[in-house]
Amino acid sequence: MSSVTSADALGEGAGPKVPAITEETYFGRVVVDQGFATSDELQLCLSRQRALEQQGRRVALQELLVEQGVLTAKQVQRLASQLEDSASRPAQQIPGFQIIEKIGAGAMATVYKARQLSLDRIVAIKVLPKRLSENPEFVERFYREGKAAARLNHPNIVQAFDVGESNGYHYFVMEFVDGHTVYDDLIRKRVFPEKDALSIVTQIAQALDHAHKRGLVHRDVKPKNIMINSHGVAKLADMGLAREVGDVKLAMAEAGRAYGTPYYIAPEQIRGELDIDFRVDMYSLGATFYHMVTGRVPFDGATPSAVMHKHLKEPLTPPDHINTRLSTGLGEVIEVMMAKDRDQRYASTGDLIRDLEAVARGEPPLQARHRYDAVLLEGLADGQSSLHQGVAPVVEAGAPGGPSNLIVALVVLLAISVVLNIALILTSFVK
Ligand SMILES: Nc1ncnc2c1ncn2[C@@H]1O[C@H](COP(=O)(O)OP(=O)(O)OP(=O)(O)O)[C@@H](O)[C@H]1O
Ligand SMILES: [Mg+2]
Repeated sequence: MSSVTSADALGEGAGPKVPAITEETYFGRVVVDQGFATSDELQLCLSRQRALEQQGRRVALQELLVEQGVLTAKQVQRLASQLEDSASRPAQQIPGFQIIEKIGAGAMATVYKARQLSLDRIVAIKVLPKRLSENPEFVERFYREGKAAARLNHPNIVQAFDVGESNGYHYFVMEFVDGHTVYDDLIRKRVFPEKDALSIVTQIAQALDHAHKRGLVHRDVKPKNIMINSHGVAKLADMGLAREVGDVKLAMAEAGRAYGTPYYIAPEQIRGELDIDFRVDMYSLGATFYHMVTGRVPFDGATPSAVMHKHLKEPLTPPDHINTRLSTGLGEVIEVMMAKDRDQRYASTGDLIRDLEAVARGEPPLQARHRYDAVLLEGLADGQSSLHQGVAPVVEAGAPGGPSNLIVALVVLLAISVVLNIALILTSFVK
């Protein structure tokens, strides 16, 4: 191995002729740093590039690396898209932080593990790509919501520390969670036991309750945003991280691309309604819960728009029909969380928590049943027979205490009125 460092090979040593770091030279540095080529090999390609340039031919370094047999075309492609996506260059330059490693990348950003030098603590930093950093509307929302999130403090919320900007890139500093996501478990084909799923979902509902009471809506609750730390504590990530305006449209247009299929999105978000509230989080948490206990997303389809159409129109298959070991109570809770009409969901995140805790104790979810009765009454008042528009019946026939509450009450009223009438008739006969 040569003693020449990659920086030397790029001519960044010293002296007046140091070239500016262009995309291309940066690419060369990464190729060497990641061990794909030695500095000598890179140097050779760069000299050849200069020689060709003198002959009036401009050949890209990437091309030369392939031509010289240093990299395959596939490797070049992969590295190039990695660099493009990762925004790793700005991350190296965030003042006050020492980047340790890249820990993940999503559709919107790249996440790094870093040391915050002033406090000597490990943090996670999310760096937005230029595409978003150049959108003033998005940046404004990113700061506003990032600051609001930093004021939240809850054991089940990934703590937001700061938002900032460096070199034109915007970033979000947060608590580093040493653990994995619920998504990681799901892709290993894990169906969560009811007890475990209840515990995780209750913790996240508590996190949401904390945020909702302070006027913050998450808007992107999904398995990838629920982390489980090494002590088994569930933490909601990306609280207060603004989603890109119009990303639903993007998801629809970009079938199969990194924007992800909208498996957990609430109907009113799909419709692009502007006055969305905490109930979108309730729906998305319900969809996540559904996935955890059945091993299936609530609605699947070949394209994002097919999935979204089902969120809007298709009745939900009750989760306890898919996993028959689930308790009826749990099925009822999920169905109320995922009612297509948000007015038919829980009236507050607190109500949801009460039901989750009841189901965990083996008791019936009373809030869901009250909800059901109220909806049924409304339906009767409107002269409708169906409960949820486009939603399968919330409670299975014969489920203890479900719609039967209302029916029993009606029967009792009827019986009382019959008895009273008979008594009246009898008294008139006696007279
Ligand atoms: N605070 C954190 N601590 C540790 N790891 C984290 C933290 N935040 C995110 N990660 C990791 O980084 C990955 C990427 O996160 P990011 O939020 O960018 O995308 P995502 O939520 O996975 O997906 P999407 O882009 O669809 O929202 C996560 O899947 C997770 O593994
Ligand atoms: Mg995330």
